[in-house]
Amino acid sequence: MIPSIEWVDNKVKMIDQTVLPFELKFLEFTDYRDVARSIKVMNIRGAPAIGVAAAMGMALATIEYKELPKAQFLEKVKEAAEVIKNTRPTASNLFWAVNRMLNLIHSLPDNPEEISELVIEEAKLMAQEDINVNKSIGKHGATILEDGDTVLTHCNAGSLATVQYGTALAPIRSAIEQGKKISVIADETRPRLQGARLTAYELHYDNIPVKVISDTSSGLLMRLGKIDKVIVGTDRVTTDAVFNKIGTYLVALAAKDNNIPFYVAAPTSTLSLHETIEDVTIEQRDSSEVCTVLGKVRIVPEGVECLNYAFDITPFRLVTGIITEDGIFTPEELLKKYKI
Ligand code: MRU
Repeated sequence: MIPSIEWVDNKVKMIDQTVLPFELKFLEFTDYRDVARSIKVMNIRGAPAIGVAAAMGMALATIEYKELPKAQFLEKVKEAAEVIKNTRPTASNLFWAVNRMLNLIHSLPDNPEEISELVIEEAKLMAQEDINVNKSIGKHGATILEDGDTVLTHCNAGSLATVQYGTALAPIRSAIEQGKKISVIADETRPRLQGARLTAYELHYDNIPVKVISDTSSGLLMRLGKIDKVIVGTDRVTTDAVFNKIGTYLVALAAKDNNIPFYVAAPTSTLSLHETIEDVTIEQRDSSEVCTVLGKVRIVPEGVECLNYAFDITPFRLVTGIITEDGIFTPEELLKKYKI
């Protein structure tokens, strides 16, 4: 897959994921406010991709304000950070990326113009780091996959959800590169259909066998022996649970009941091990996403309300292993390795 986001000639260039798979369209932004909006309306989505978009948004803000005196520059950049952070509340990477930029900006004694140059370099570095991290997740994750395996995944934690290569789809890509035959079953992932629209798109683009199922089918397919492993991505890992796209918890329950390993691919930028379940805000999006199909056809009687929680909580007891760029860990091992 082509990168989902890039820094090109002091512009942020991204694939518009709202129109896939019908159209491969690119958006370009020079204003951080537009990048913030693109995160909110999900032109770009997926925790690591949101993180890189946020970093690039911060870089745009430094360009906008680089002619101001240092104190005013810092004030304006702080304002931009708030606008960017205020887009989606659940994915850790967004906050991780903005804070990394703020820390960098505050550590630099130079004038705003020089700071801006260094912040741009940092944003580009973060995009490259994301790809490297995903490749490592792929290398470690490929060790759990056997020739002939069928892997179920939920939502899109692939190339489109990152800069490139993906997190949950990285072990699959890596195993296939090693010559193993792997196929994928993708939950359609109502209401935004990231599985049907995006996971199917990018795997098909890369000639990786994929079939799409309705979200309610995975339990039956597990029982029928048609799924060997589950690998999903995550938006935030706390000391007790994994937060991911709504529906992940039900997949994990079904996997447990059918003795199917349930793995979570998590770059360390997604770890939030100073928090517990209670600390996390689960995003609630506009109810029209559930009441309609892709905002087009209303499928619920007028006057009936819809609830639209975007993420759910999978407790550690349902997780077989968490794949980071450093290796594969049980939840207990993960806490031992990364919790400060
Ligand atoms: O609402 P989205 O599409 O941003 O949700 C994305 C997910 O839930 C992904 O599984 C998660 O961000 C991990 S992406 C590598």
